[in-house]
Amino acid sequence: MAYSDKVMDHFTNPRNMGEMDNPSGVGTVGNAQCGDIMRVYLDIDDENIVRDVKFKTFGCAAAVATSSMATELVKGKTIQEALQVTNDAVCEALDGLPAIKVHCSLLAEEAIHAALWDYAEKNGIVIEGLEKPKTDIHEDEEDAEEY
Ligand code: FES
Repeated sequence: MAYSDKVMDHFTNPRNMGEMDNPSGVGTVGNAQCGDIMRVYLDIDDENIVRDVKFKTFGCAAAVATSSMATELVKGKTIQEALQVTNDAVCEALDGLPAIKVHCSLLAEEAIHAALWDYAEKNGIVIEGLEKPKTDIHEDEEDAEEY
């Protein structure tokens, strides 16, 4: 299995890894295939621009690299533009992923969507085209180690 140079770069030097105090929205999702977990924090301003984004993961190299790239792609974008950052777009930006690792790239997209959903709920708004995340993990469930 060979990773592209870009995947190796984002894995060894991940961008936007960490946590955020008082995020506008936070989403935590799990990967059903491997049980790995991803959390994304978004800082969204009054103009609906994603000002900052951070991620934390218990995921593999591909999950780290795709999250790093995904966070770079959503930073500075509008909410609608951020929604267009699909796992396909992220894989393409990384010059591809080995086929058996493509499921790992879904974590980033799902966590961003879950964080946007959290933001929408907190602010009582509807984000057009955003569906309720299926795999969002709530803190209490995580603490209870149900996942
Ligand atoms: Fe779990 Fe890649 S193997 S995220």
